[in-house]
Amino acid sequence: MNRDRFPALHDGWARLDGPAGSQVVDSAIEAMAGWMRSSGSANHGGVFKAAHETDELVEGTRAACAALLGGEPAGIAFGPSFTALTMRFAATVARELKPGDEIVCTRLDHDSNVRPWVIAAERAGVKVRFAEPEPDTLELPASAVEAVLSERTRWVAVTAASNAIGTVPDLPGIVAAAHRVGARVYVDAVHATPHRRHDVAALDIDVLGCSAYKWFGPHIGVLCARPEILSEYRPDKLNPSPDEAPDRWELGTLPFEALAGVRAAAGYMLELDLEAVRAHEDALLAAALDGLGSMDHVTLYGAAADRAPTLMFNVAGRSSAETARALAEREIAVWDGNYYAWELERHLGLAPHGAVRAGFLHYNDAADAERLLAAVAELG
Ligand SMILES: Cc1ncc(COP(=O)(O)O)c(C=O)c1O
Repeated sequence: MNRDRFPALHDGWARLDGPAGSQVVDSAIEAMAGWMRSSGSANHGGVFKAAHETDELVEGTRAACAALLGGEPAGIAFGPSFTALTMRFAATVARELKPGDEIVCTRLDHDSNVRPWVIAAERAGVKVRFAEPEPDTLELPASAVEAVLSERTRWVAVTAASNAIGTVPDLPGIVAAAHRVGARVYVDAVHATPHRRHDVAALDIDVLGCSAYKWFGPHIGVLCARPEILSEYRPDKLNPSPDEAPDRWELGTLPFEALAGVRAAAGYMLELDLEAVRAHEDALLAAALDGLGSMDHVTLYGAAADRAPTLMFNVAGRSSAETARALAEREIAVWDGNYYAWELERHLGLAPHGAVRAGFLHYNDAADAERLLAAVAELG
């Protein structure tokens, strides 16, 4: 779908590396170049025309991200990456933790939604408990989180989709269970956002984070929080920088040219028919799973009923890096190793070589899936 909107897709490669970063949509590329070329580019907070235009850009980008994620502009904060934002958020929250408090993480999450909490918890002297995925399917039902919740749980850090095996956890059930014991929920929607629409307000999520470079924009992280949460906590900041939320969560000057790209990419995402996207991606996933599943020399990991179109596998007798290199020789881009799904790699006993990951985005087509299958078949 929409391949002609992605200038980078014209070099003949099958780009199945979308989970590591999508290609950029034309409108975002043009918005970034246009911003830098325009005379509206300045710093924000000044009293002249270009500075006002920059203020409008920041506000407009917060509004676009709020519309995309179902939040409010006052709850949108930008940062260099989801990882950087989460490190800052967890460290800030940890100052309020008391002895005996607990944090819940999952074995399904990317390490950027695990290690910041583990580090912060260690500093605060509080315990981290892990929710384990179901042994056979690697699904994460609400019961897996409920098993490690207590009345001392303060935060639950959970993914909206695994960046390794695609599992979409039961987010509504997990949020409800966490709230029942008085805990707040921090959702990593980095992998999920190009595939699923999230509505932070409707789902009653406390904080959700994502990264625009996974949804066809530039490299920048986005937090979408309930505005009261950003106002309640006090991150480290400089004296003269704004003290109001969301600005006080942002360190230094924002990358305005990237914000222009984010605003355009959010606009593109809002125009996409995500039901059609889902049907298209599910068909690609089903074709790839059927094909790989029928090959004796392939082991597939994860079988969640609800999953993003991301699959993980190994080929007998080859490390994941060897398989990925063999696919690269055929101009097929996939990832190898653990892609920072560090807990899951250990949970599955796959360290240190991990597995191959191939992920579809809506701009992939049936030919990409067929090329993957033909190439992996040759490795048998
Ligand atoms: C699920 C998930 N969470 C977090 C991250 C980290 O995002 P960032 O690169 O913005 O720190 C990634 C990146 O691959 C991811 O896939």
